[in-house]
Amino acid sequence: MNRETVIVLDFGGQYNQLVARRVRECNVYCEIYSYKTGIEKIKEMNPRGIILTGGPNSCYEEDSPTYTKELFELGIPVLGLCYGAQLMQHILGGKVERAEVREYGKTEVFVDTTSELFSNVSPTTTCWMSHFDYISQTAPGFRVTAHTADCPVAAAENANLQLYAIQFHPEVLHTKEGTKMLYNFVRSVCGCAGDWKMDSFVEQSVRAIREKVGDGKVLCALSGGVDSSVAAVLLSKAVGDQLTCVFVDQGLLRKNEGDEVEAVFGPEGNYDLNFIRVNAQERFYQKLAGVSEPEAKRKIIGEEFIRVFEEEAKKIGAVDFLVQGTIYPDVVESGLGGESAVIKSHHNVGGLPDYVDFKEIIEPLRDLFKDEVRKAGLELGIPEYLVYRQPFPGPGLGIRIIGEVTAEKVRIVQDADAIYREEIAKAGLDQEINQYFAALTNMRSVGVMGDERTYDYAVALRAVKTIDFMTAEAAEIPFEVLNRVMNRIINEVKGVNRVMYDLTSKPPGTIEFE
Ligand code: XMP
Repeated sequence: MNRETVIVLDFGGQYNQLVARRVRECNVYCEIYSYKTGIEKIKEMNPRGIILTGGPNSCYEEDSPTYTKELFELGIPVLGLCYGAQLMQHILGGKVERAEVREYGKTEVFVDTTSELFSNVSPTTTCWMSHFDYISQTAPGFRVTAHTADCPVAAAENANLQLYAIQFHPEVLHTKEGTKMLYNFVRSVCGCAGDWKMDSFVEQSVRAIREKVGDGKVLCALSGGVDSSVAAVLLSKAVGDQLTCVFVDQGLLRKNEGDEVEAVFGPEGNYDLNFIRVNAQERFYQKLAGVSEPEAKRKIIGEEFIRVFEEEAKKIGAVDFLVQGTIYPDVVESGLGGESAVIKSHHNVGGLPDYVDFKEIIEPLRDLFKDEVRKAGLELGIPEYLVYRQPFPGPGLGIRIIGEVTAEKVRIVQDADAIYREEIAKAGLDQEINQYFAALTNMRSVGVMGDERTYDYAVALRAVKTIDFMTAEAAEIPFEVLNRVMNRIINEVKGVNRVMYDLTSKPPGTIEFE
């Protein structure tokens, strides 16, 4: 590795990505590897520091994940967290036992601030604990540097060997001064200079892309979402005219979205891009006519997208490279960040095809976390409102219209959604809610409007708070805001006579309706 890197060895903890993100927040590049990664590979990588994550096992049991003792003899600083801390102690001759009660939640920890790890940390600090096992005896040569009322060894170290063990989780936000501790580890103990910055990322990527592409032609499917926008602008900066961006308006975008994307990336926009907008609305509506099963709709939309893209690629001709907006969590979640030496291309991210006649896939963002993609976007001068967009699914409104999709239903859900988004923004809630939208239910009901009977659709409003989009809670939107949205939708959107707010969390619900 040329880059100054700290590696995280993953022992199955739920916070492994978080550890890497926090390290990167200290401007130190960090990658996650499986604990099965061999010692030789680690030596080859020559990292500046190694962090062992937590995990669900007990280190003294036979089949539990472990590592060779040599890891602690490389002369590379090691920080063990939770399971990682226990494993370090266990391997080096300390003792780990099952406690009578589990220590769980925010806990007051008393730290020895003479430890380099706890430099500038308050002597009594709140940390997040989650463990059954505990270190009852430290390994020879270690000294205890933190404890709690219940836990005699909340941290221990052998500073001479640069080995550090922390029982709690500095990576979670509940540990108030956790980032400071990680900063102390990577910047002071490991001595990293902190050269991982988005401006240098952009610069280095531009150079690498130029080298790879030479004078070849590059194609990018631009959806207007954060990842593809950042990838497109980065590529454009690197290879200018050799890049063509294809934006397919499939008639399932949010209100005015097609024009907004064109305004930014099209000929009148901020970038000098070869931009092709394909208005394929009718084509998609025709394919979707009469289809109401969600997975069938998804499939049709995905396939049709590929067909349109294919046609455009053919028109351009002789495309060498295809750009994909794969980001680091995609790589980690698909298990590619672990052991696999040869990392394969992640073809299906963003539903992109691998059929076009191209030599190679370029994934300029595959090392970045989402927040870093956003930072790179800002660095590249992409407007904030685009960079901080909420996620929008590939099949678009197609999965927010329950049942058959028609142009008329698209109009209804677009108008209702636009009102909803406008009012949420006006109420200043758009930054706290992670995803919110209107969906069109398949339900029609009787209403009364101006003495007339109506028989119209019900719109459902959804708003969720979530970190990872795997689990989510319905957001508590003030009633007055919901009321205003309801009034406006009923008055302004023809075809709607009822508005409902979805309280379901995920699980058991999903975020989208289909
Ligand atoms: P669910 O509905 O599965 O959504 O709770 C979780 C997140 O994924 C997005 N989503 C999709 N994104 N194609 C996509 O590109 C899809 O088919 C799709 N389905 C759901 C959803 O918007 C949410 O952010």
